[in-house]
Amino acid sequence: MNAVSSIAPQPITDEEVKAALDVAVAQIRRNLPEFTYSAQNHSSVNNFYPPVANNQWTAGFWPGEIWLAFEHTGDKTFQYAAQIQVQSFLHRIENRIETDHHDMGFLYSPSCIAAWKLVGDEDGRKAALLAADQLIERYQPIGQFIQAWGRKGVAEEYRYIIDCLLNLPLLYWATEQTGDQKYRDIALIHARTTLKNSVRPDDSTYHTFYMDPETGAPVRGATKQGYADDSFWARGQAWGVAGMAFSYRYERIDEYRDTFDRLLAFYLNKLPADMVPYWDMVFSDGDNEPRDTSAASIVACGLLEMADLVGGEAADRYRDLARRMIKSLADHYAVKDPAISNGLVLHGTYSKKSPYNTCRGEGVDECVSWGDYYYMEALTRLSRSWSSYW
Ligand code: GLY
Repeated sequence: MNAVSSIAPQPITDEEVKAALDVAVAQIRRNLPEFTYSAQNHSSVNNFYPPVANNQWTAGFWPGEIWLAFEHTGDKTFQYAAQIQVQSFLHRIENRIETDHHDMGFLYSPSCIAAWKLVGDEDGRKAALLAADQLIERYQPIGQFIQAWGRKGVAEEYRYIIDCLLNLPLLYWATEQTGDQKYRDIALIHARTTLKNSVRPDDSTYHTFYMDPETGAPVRGATKQGYADDSFWARGQAWGVAGMAFSYRYERIDEYRDTFDRLLAFYLNKLPADMVPYWDMVFSDGDNEPRDTSAASIVACGLLEMADLVGGEAADRYRDLARRMIKSLADHYAVKDPAISNGLVLHGTYSKKSPYNTCRGEGVDECVSWGDYYYMEALTRLSRSWSSYW
């Protein structure tokens, strides 16, 4: 497995997309016995995910992969396994097990909204609506944002993070389902707040952003998982790119599209030759730092989402870029031999500790659950006209 390639990738062909999906689906099928009644840890340990309880923010991605495998094959084995997972997600939200944070969209879109959209699973719909109710409880009118983590209203924790843009589709969906505008209104306001504060003048992004709990004024950008407050955490930029595409889908204002292009240009400019970023883009070739393959898949999905929305030459360019990114992952990073890993894509980075950030070091240079999911989603988007779970 060659993690560092100096060769610029070609666009992946349709045949290669199908072959890569077949490889991924075979791996998902092999994983079903271990992970039908268990969740998958957020990241692998020595390239193997351990089974865990359904209590992490990342638990939705594995059922999302199962749904994508179902879509690719039509095999009901995948449907039944994913519906067993839905029961676990319903139990989790009904009992509010580790749900007091903003990651309800990451949890409930690929697991339960997918179940509702694909097979009309009523419990999936019920669970996702309960998750949307939970998410809007974290909305802070003073500052107009959804608070990411921690005790609500406490100054040290009064912040949102750029990743939350991907939690918002759950709220748009909840309005569509219920006719109640409150979910959509909060999503729109939160997206606007992100647009206003999280993009720096050079078109890089802040991971987290603090607001003043008394006045609602913006206070400062910071990081949790990037190298430093002023560095360029690759996945944060990726969430920004994909988040702008989804924001544009739900509200057609030029600022989202323009910001998408600006964040994308910054990201592309920092990529090494093989189009897979180092975990923080302050690093480059020769720094001996790990990659984050998951950022590449997230950006590819953002590109394919925006391509569907805009059409024309811009869409051709976005699709071409996505095909190159996915080709690089499929050729050099995807798992082909189950003896070396039970994941789909190697060389992701969850949280790398630095002297300047506040995360715990975990999942460094490993498979990461959302990296596997978004790789599958990108391949699926390239293989068919896909109706999104988001
Ligand atoms: N949303 C948290 C992360 O990307 O690690």
